[in-house]
Amino acid sequence: MKDVVISGTGLYNPPHIITNAELVESFNAYVALHNERHAEAIAAGHVEALQLSSVEFIEKASGIQRRHVIDKAGVLDPTRMRPRFAPRPDEQLSLMAELGVAGARDALRAAGKTGADIDGVLCAAANMQRAYPAMACEIQAAIGAKGYGFDMNVACSSATFGIEQAVNAVKSGSARCVLVVNPEITSAHLEWRDRDCHFIFGDVCTAVIVEAADTATSADRWRVLGTRLHTQFSNHIRNNAGFLNRCEDTDPDARDKTFRQEGRKVFKEVVPVAAAHIERHLADLGLKPAEVQRYWLHQANLGMNQLVVKKLLGDWDSRRAPVILDDYANTASAGSIIAFHLHHADMAAGERGVICSFGAGYSVGSVVVEKVAA
Ligand code: COA
Repeated sequence: MKDVVISGTGLYNPPHIITNAELVESFNAYVALHNERHAEAIAAGHVEALQLSSVEFIEKASGIQRRHVIDKAGVLDPTRMRPRFAPRPDEQLSLMAELGVAGARDALRAAGKTGADIDGVLCAAANMQRAYPAMACEIQAAIGAKGYGFDMNVACSSATFGIEQAVNAVKSGSARCVLVVNPEITSAHLEWRDRDCHFIFGDVCTAVIVEAADTATSADRWRVLGTRLHTQFSNHIRNNAGFLNRCEDTDPDARDKTFRQEGRKVFKEVVPVAAAHIERHLADLGLKPAEVQRYWLHQANLGMNQLVVKKLLGDWDSRRAPVILDDYANTASAGSIIAFHLHHADMAAGERGVICSFGAGYSVGSVVVEKVAA
């Protein structure tokens, strides 16, 4: 079996930022409009009055301060409350592929590769723009890659699950150099009118180049010591949007056709599973949690990451488990990859880290890496 490395990572940030103050101002304007429009029904007890959101709640409950989005105006318009994307003709690069190509180009630059060096493209994300053709095939064509491409979705664990597929492809020889790209347009699956979750998500694209150690030339290489995946079914994070909807004659705008969760249950149930998963994975590699210098964790909630790290190390240490949630919010599968991308440059050869995602499914994926001497 070949030694496999991550030889480059990439990040694309959409141009607009929404602060919590801006978000809450528009949400509360929407609430005022709704309550005014339904004043009579509310007074008669037929419709529930909506409640105001607050910046204090969002920051205390989640740790999120701002988020990047592709379209700010549509999200903040209290009469719309969702991004506005212009439809594109089939001949034009699709929006999701455009993000994917931007993230991919950044990763290719970091790895010292061109599109022609890539012979496997995995588009791994929590949502796909269309049923087919696969987004990966469009991205493959746009960057001039060879080989094959396919899409995969394991919600917030799509990126780590994709890395395992890439590592196995390179190990087995079915590909030499694989691009795993995570265009996460979460602003389109979020119900911006729901006070319980309107602050949660942001848009981004990350990308990772996985290749055989003997073909990697970049100075920044991370040997993959091991990958491990785990899933167990739960309805506590769910989105029923899908191709059967029109045959069910259900309302495409109904609440169950966008992201929903039982946030408190998710918090309680996922933390112990994620911590135990990491601990077991490390133990099987002969490592103790204290022998790992950095934890690049999924970014959904600051309190969750603090608890996972306390279970592993005894104490919360933000240097050991960098937080990007404040600037990015939850970016689905891209969160742990952003943390890795932005917070590894200071690490020395031989130092180790764990990239770990957790989310809907439930799903947990871990990738243990070690910095290679330049
Ligand atoms: N502004 C003000 N108050 C709000 C509010 C808002 N935007 N949203 C909810 N509240 C209120 C609720 O109505 C509730 O009031 P009550 O106590 O009077 O009933 C109270 O705040 C607590 O709500 P709750 O939903 O229990 O908050 P929480 O502390 O669990 O925080 C999350 C909510 C979503 C931030 C948190 O549960 C979380 O992040 N969970 C993990 C989710 C996760 O990892 N998901 C993965 C997605 S991929």
